Amino acid sequence: MKRQLPLIGALLLPVMAGAVAASPAGGKADMPGVIDPAQARLDYMLKCQGCHRPDGSGDAVSNPPMNGKVAKFLHVPGGRAFLGRVPGVATVDLDDTRLSNVVNWTLYRFDRANLPPGFKPYTPAEIGRLRQSPLRTERAGVRAALVAQMPGGVL
Ligand code: HEC
Repeated sequence: MKRQLPLIGALLLPVMAGAVAASPAGGKADMPGVIDPAQARLDYMLKCQGCHRPDGSGDAVSNPPMNGKVAKFLHVPGGRAFLGRVPGVATVDLDDTRLSNVVNWTLYRFDRANLPPGFKPYTPAEIGRLRQSPLRTERAGVRAALVAQMPGGVL
């Protein structure tokens, strides 16, 4: 049976290569607004995941989960601006281009299913404008008001 091993290898390798090529780490085509997915992944690791966790699950105490939820903000008036004004986004030491890159990546990575139809990715200019008015102590109230407008009033 040893003689079959090379054949199995020859069959498996192209399959594995195909899986890599089709990986959701993907790139521009399946992540419009993400100019550099590798940079976004790295920036998320360095600047965001300490609070939001690598899988976007957050915690039950102070950091809200983003996986399966974060894009719901884009369905309510004011929600799109909110995502650019929360302190973790607005005040991070990344320039507008890298910030819009990682915010768009976050939306695709953790909540693609809830993106509104025709979603337009954030541009560096939009993020640059929003981050000029970061939310401070009022943010919990603003967030609660947005969540209350979501279908069923839950996130
Ligand atoms: C120090 C902890 C911390 C860091 C670092 C952080 N966040 Fe947050 N993030 C929060 C908290 C807490 C909230 C809830 C709103 C608030 O109180 O600021 C939040 C809210 C958000 C939201 C809105 C979703 C919601 O449920 O409120 C987005 C989007 C977001 N963060 C993305 C990011 C990104 C992208 C980064 C990295 C560039 C980042 N955050 C860094 C703690 C953090």
